[in-house]
This record gives sequence, structure tokens and C-alpha cells, in this order.
Amino acid sequence: MSTSKNIQFSPEALELCQKIMRRYPQGKHKSAILPILHIAQAESNGWLSPEVMDYVAGILRIQPIEVYEVASFYSMFNLKPVGKCVIEVCRTGPCWLLGAEDLVRFIEKKLGIKEGQTTPDGMFTLKTVECLASCGTAPMMQIGETYHENLTFDKCGKILDEYKGKGELVTHWKKEKVKNHSDIKQ
Ligand code: FES
Repeated sequence: MSTSKNIQFSPEALELCQKIMRRYPQGKHKSAILPILHIAQAESNGWLSPEVMDYVAGILRIQPIEVYEVASFYSMFNLKPVGKCVIEVCRTGPCWLLGAEDLVRFIEKKLGIKEGQTTPDGMFTLKTVECLASCGTAPMMQIGETYHENLTFDKCGKILDEYKGKGELVTHWKKEKVKNHSDIKQ
């Protein structure tokens, strides 16, 4: 059985969780689960352990199973340790027709890993995901908050080379966004 007692979000993250929860009527805090899971992921090296999900359940005052259900449904949440940059290549129809599969093979070869794996240096994790709503600019991939579109092998290779030098974790919600959340409306 997991225990969340060793998990502690930063004061900024906790404040942001409260700010987001105040958007919802009393007793409906569960509706804040998606942004709070993004915060949790930014606070926890880019992935959600059972302990972190239990901690989130405590914040939302819901059962842990309710958090597991949501976190395991959406591909943007990682349930095992990941690299600093998680590459999410869209593999749905339009992207597939325009070469997503070949793009995945290209990235696998370039990084020396298979889909679902992380490079030994902990820099990249490669995932395939369903439609990211950018079908008009297929094929595409998402890394952190950024969409990379109209990809060719050459363009994709250059993008990955740029990320290689990055020291910090790249997540859907940057740690900066959690620290400085004045742009997040209450
Ligand atoms: S099919 Fe790839 S973004 Fe929609």
C-alpha cells in the first residue's frame, strides 16, 4: 500500500491548488483534478507515483482511486519515471497518413530507444499519443507545452538536438508557471 506522507508540494504549488479549487462550488472540488495533476507532475520530476496521486486525493478530499482513474486515462500524465523531455508523437489518422510512423522510427533510431523507453542519460522519453488537435499541421509532436508541427526528419532532428542541451525538466506545466501563477485566473 502506498503512503503519501513523505510527499510535500512547494508552498507556491499548494497555493495554486487552492486558487484553482476556489473556482468550483463547495463539494465540487474534484473538477479541479486535471490542473492539479499537472501541478503534481511539475512538482514530481514529470511523473505521478501512487504516493503523489494519493497526496493529490488528499488535497481534493476524494478517494485515491478517483485520481488513479483520471491519471491513467490521459496520455499527458506519466505513471512511471520519465526523461527531462517527454516526446509525444501524434499517431492518429491525419498524422499517420503523413508519416507519423516513420517519424517514430526516425526518433527511435536517433535516440537509440524504442517507443515507451527513456534514453540512458535520462534526457528523452518517447511516447506516441492520440490526436493533439493539430491535424492541419501534421505530422506533429508535443514536447512540454510546445507543439512542433509540419515535421520532416530534418526538422525533427534539429529540434531534438536543441532540447538535448536543456538542463531543466520540460513538462506540460512548467515549474515557472507553478511558481509565478499570476496569469492563472481564480
Ligand atoms: S491527427 Fe495528429 S494532431 Fe490530429
